[in-house]
Order: sequence, then C-alpha cells, then structure tokens
Amino acid sequence: MPDEKSYSPGLEGVVAGISSVSEVDPEKSMLIYRGYDVHELAERATYEEVVYLLLMGKLPNRKELSEFTGFIGHERHIPGDLMDMIQAYPDTAHPMDALRSAVSALGLYDKTTSDLSHNATVEKAMKLIAKIPTIIAASHRFRADLDVVDPDPRMTCAESFLHLLTGKKPDPLAVRALDVSLVLYAEHSFNASTFAARVTASTLSDYYSSIVSAIGTLKGPLHGGANEEAIKMMLEIGSPAKAEAWTLEALAKKRLIMGFGHRVYKKGDSRVPIMRKLGQELGEKLNQPQWHQMAQIIEEVMWREKKLPPNVDFPCGYVYYMLKLPIPLYTPIFAASRVAGWSAHIIEQYEHNRIMRPTNIYNGPKEVTFTPLEQRP
Ligand code: ACO
Repeated sequence: MPDEKSYSPGLEGVVAGISSVSEVDPEKSMLIYRGYDVHELAERATYEEVVYLLLMGKLPNRKELSEFTGFIGHERHIPGDLMDMIQAYPDTAHPMDALRSAVSALGLYDKTTSDLSHNATVEKAMKLIAKIPTIIAASHRFRADLDVVDPDPRMTCAESFLHLLTGKKPDPLAVRALDVSLVLYAEHSFNASTFAARVTASTLSDYYSSIVSAIGTLKGPLHGGANEEAIKMMLEIGSPAKAEAWTLEALAKKRLIMGFGHRVYKKGDSRVPIMRKLGQELGEKLNQPQWHQMAQIIEEVMWREKKLPPNVDFPCGYVYYMLKLPIPLYTPIFAASRVAGWSAHIIEQYEHNRIMRPTNIYNGPKEVTFTPLEQRP
C-alpha cells in the first residue's frame, strides 16, 4: 500500500511524463519550445511560426508558413448553428465557460471527432486554433449588443483577434504586443491545464474533450485566471504611491498576491522580463507609465518580504489593460494561445500512450458494520 513518504501534495516534483514539446529550467529561469529559447522566439518569430513549431516539431520555411497561415485564415469562421448557440448563452456566463461550451459544441459538428490519428489531430488543432479567437470575440460582442465581425483570412492571428473584437483595423503596436504575449503563453510543459488535457487524452478520449478539460482547468485563479486578478488588484491599488503600503497590508492579512509565485520557477519566470520590458515600452508610448512603476514597487516588496517573483500573468495583466482589452477576456486570450501547446501535448500523448491512473492513500474508516436502511437513525 502507498505510504505518506511517497506522497507529494499537489504532485510537486512528481515526474508525470516524457515530452519533447518544451522544457522549463528553473535554475536558469529558462524556457525552450522544441529546443528554441522563448526569448529568441518572442523577439524574432511570430505566433504562427511558434504554433507551427509546436505542432510540427520544426520551424516552417516560407512556403510552409504561407500554406499554414492561409489554412488558419480560412478556418476562422464558425458554423452558423454554433454562432446561434453562442448568442443564446446567458449574458451572465463567464467568457471561459462560454469558450469551454463552444469548443465542446464544435466537437459535435466535426465528423472526424473520433479519429485520433496524427494527421486528423493536427488538422483539428489547426482548425481550433483558427476558431477560438472568433468564438471569444463573437461571444463578447453578443454580450455587448454589438454585431459580430466577419473574420478576414489575410490577417495574422493577433491582428485578426483585435479586428474581430473591435471591428477596426488594429494598431501595429497593439498587434505586436499581443503577438509577443501569444508566443509566451503558447506552451509551458506539464502545467495544470496541459496535464488535464493529457489525462483526458490518455483515456483515448477525443481531442475536443481533452481541450475542454484544459479550458476548465486554465480558468482557475491559481492558473490562467491570475492575469485578470492581477490587473484588478492594480486597479484596486490605484497609484504607484499606494503600492508599497497596499502590498504590505495585503501580505499581513495573508492575502494571495495574484500574479506572484510559481510551482516550478522559484528564482524568476523566464517569460516575465520580456513582458515587463513590453509593459514599460507600451507605458512610455501610450503615456501610461504608472502601471510599470506600480509593478516595480509590488515586485520589490514581494521579493523583499516573501522571496516571491512575479509570474507571466502579472505583466500580461497590465499590458492587456493598456491595449484596452476587456478584462474578462484576459484568460480566454491565454486559452487562445495555449491551445497550441495543449494540442502538441495531446498529439504526443496519443503517440506514446499509457492511461494516467495514479494512486492515493486512503484515510477514511475501515471495517464499518453495515446498518440496514430501516435501522439507520
Ligand atoms: N501571494 C502570497 N503568498 C504566496 C503567493 C502569492 N501569490 N504564492 C505563494 N505564496 C506563499 C504561500 O502561501 C506559501 O506560504 P506558506 O509556506 O507560509 O504557506 C508559500 O508562498 C509557498 O507557496 P506554495 O503555495 O507552496 O506554492 P505552490 O507551488 O503550491 O503554488 C501558485 C503556486 C499556485 C502559483 C501560488 O504561488 C499562487 O497561488 N500564486 C497566485 C496565483 C497566480 O499567480 N497563479 C498563476 C500561476 S502561473 C500561470 O498559471 C501562468
């Protein structure tokens, strides 16, 4: 029988698989996607190139990229029946719940849902990566009583998302900032949502069910939901002058400071320096330096008091705020990017599968005497 010595709460440090998709090196605060440093990818590659890298295992050449982006561009539309369904979701629905339900419904329309072969799964992934931003934007516009915008197949993923959301041709600065965040959010080894996707795939359930598991897992504030909570916290603080006292008081009250801490990174999240720099540059260009200033103070207090560094959700929160993205969409945007990593892991799981079935320590009663129904108090 398993004993307490073999138990690691939260599965900390437990090796749950072998993967060639990405590696997190906490000692060097480094993240690689299929061997490439994420810093270099964020600086020199687009989100589309990164998606291709994650799904196909190599960077595309010009022809491959053009075919790939052409396919994604033409797959952005969603079936009319599904659009009607999204319109009928209650206005009070959380955007992550709307996304989860719509992805689940997409599985109903795909005749190849039960085909788990490599090629069929790659194709499903490419189609879903194309459609998720359309779902998020449509669901948002229905709730705001606005007409849904038709996707433009010629636009990049970042450009298209901003266009679908606002109906306007987006500013190149916003497109570039969003694209960098999509590159950084695309993949992160065996995090909770990816693990959930792999557990579902390991039962040889279908691709859509695996993604639905991942979306539900990402929603939580301890995972993807933290980017929304981080900016809400900064809005509550209000100004850099109040940041130190606010953070100290929150810590004294044992409040969780959202966007700080990480299960794997203890010295610093590899993605933060890129987003932090972007946040500073955007703040200067948009004349909103207060967010980066406030962030620096909170980071300094958190390191001094708790030795906790920020995670990527912290700078993403204020970068998205400066881009005027609606706060309830921050976690869905994270999902729109991470679907690339989830898909790469689902493909890998199908290819080297063994059902995930851990064990547990039982701490309930034993040898209880059965009392017939009529004799129970
Ligand atoms: N604010 C205040 N204290 C914190 C925070 C935080 N953000 N994070 C950890 N701590 C404290 C814990 O309370 C604990 O203190 P204790 O030893 O006195 O009990 C100590 O630091 C160690 O933290 P753990 O809970 O062991 O860290 P764990 O690995 O279990 O959890 C997690 C990691 C969930 C990310 C946690 O740091 C947290 O809740 N952070 C806030 C939510 C967040 O930002 N999530 C995003 C994660 S990254 C991502 O998903 C993209």
